Amino acid sequence: MRGPTQEPARSPARTYCLTLREEADNNNPGAEMTKDSSLGCAAVAHPVGGFTERKGTNLLKPEMEERLNEQFNLELYSAYLYYAMTAYFESLSLKGFSHWMSLQAQEELLHVSKLFQHINDRAGRVVFNAVEAPPNVWESPLKVMEAAYAHECLVSERINEEVSFALSLNDHTSVTFLQWFVAEQVEEESVADDIVQKLKIIGDNSSALFLLDQELGQRPAVSIDAEAGDA
Ligand code: FEO
Repeated sequence: MRGPTQEPARSPARTYCLTLREEADNNNPGAEMTKDSSLGCAAVAHPVGGFTERKGTNLLKPEMEERLNEQFNLELYSAYLYYAMTAYFESLSLKGFSHWMSLQAQEELLHVSKLFQHINDRAGRVVFNAVEAPPNVWESPLKVMEAAYAHECLVSERINEEVSFALSLNDHTSVTFLQWFVAEQVEEESVADDIVQKLKIIGDNSSALFLLDQELGQRPAVSIDAEAGDA
């Protein structure tokens, strides 16, 4: 959480920020001001609800802030989608699949927290978008897991795009932060694909499906340290 406003020595950037603040207050109380990226002064864009002058090399540029917010909202959707899949497995009494998928959803919420913290740490502003409704019904457990795998591939694609974008901005702080997600996606894709492959082998064999359900029910709880540790 941001601390109370300090009163640092007036720099040209701070003077500029304060001028903008005064103009906004006088002309249009409550209005948000436009961020001036040339100053690296993220607070210029976020004066509503508390004006805090922040400047430095690690502040988020507006374009990167937007990208990280897109990722933040995608991770929220991931959790939403996986809870919908959990509910579907519950409806089939596949408790092991349900357990596995609910942990997957919890992992996504940790990814959400990680992005939330990082954006705030760099004086950005987290923006919540509407979360799209996920599907609620699938044809079979195999179709669910194929959808989960496809979704993870999409997330990987987006993460890679964000890394490339951060590199284009010379934003090495974002690159370093995103590397955690790059590595995480290898596992995310792999575990989903592993279950897809097993389900293909199982086919219509209900005994084998029962055994896989038992196996997935053994998945250990999500480790907060492992999932949400420092990137
Ligand atoms: Fe947060 Fe499964 O990607």
